Amino acid sequence: MTARPLKADSDCEYGSFMISSRLSRRALIGAGASTLLAGLALRGAQAQQSLLPVTSQCSDGDEPTPRQTEGPYFTPNSPERTNLFEDGMPGERIALAGFVLDQRCRPVAGALLDLWHCDAAGVYDNDGYRLRGHQFSDAEGRFVFETIVPGRYPGRTRHYHVKVQAPGRSILTTQLYFPGEPGNDGDRIFESALLLDIPLGRGPNLARYDFVLDLG
Ligand SMILES: [Fe+2]
Repeated sequence: MTARPLKADSDCEYGSFMISSRLSRRALIGAGASTLLAGLALRGAQAQQSLLPVTSQCSDGDEPTPRQTEGPYFTPNSPERTNLFEDGMPGERIALAGFVLDQRCRPVAGALLDLWHCDAAGVYDNDGYRLRGHQFSDAEGRFVFETIVPGRYPGRTRHYHVKVQAPGRSILTTQLYFPGEPGNDGDRIFESALLLDIPLGRGPNLARYDFVLDLG
């Protein structure tokens, strides 16, 4: 699929309405992270079977994922890739995975997901594309980024930045947060609806989030 560069919020021109979203908690309940990872590694009927418990927990009318500020460090035209990790890169490796769904729990295929975040020392690459990349959700609405846990920088709790865009629709810009972070409570824009689901005591490390888009 041809990469379609994302634009800054102020340049959004896709669609005639705005998208917002929030964590679909019901989509998380009863579906272990390992189940999702297994599903991500599979295709066809086998994948459908492994993912069935996930979609069955989603209910019509789920609130869309909330939008948040883009921040000052978005760089357009990131490379299309699923793996942002580079050999020798400091930091704890993690897979950021989930689904893109509409409010009726239907998967959104071909949704553009653009992820960017700071490195383990809290520094953004504003000259290149280190820890930046985009991909498209698959036919079942699934995505997965291999990356690292971002560090912290002054004034903000630990977070990822992401843009999500269903084909031909407007861009959802938001941020994702880590549960149990001491800086969450003091962060001026932190929202609990944007918390990642991170199962403890399981490997490999996985952070899960399902985006729910208002597609009208
Ligand atoms: Fe940031």
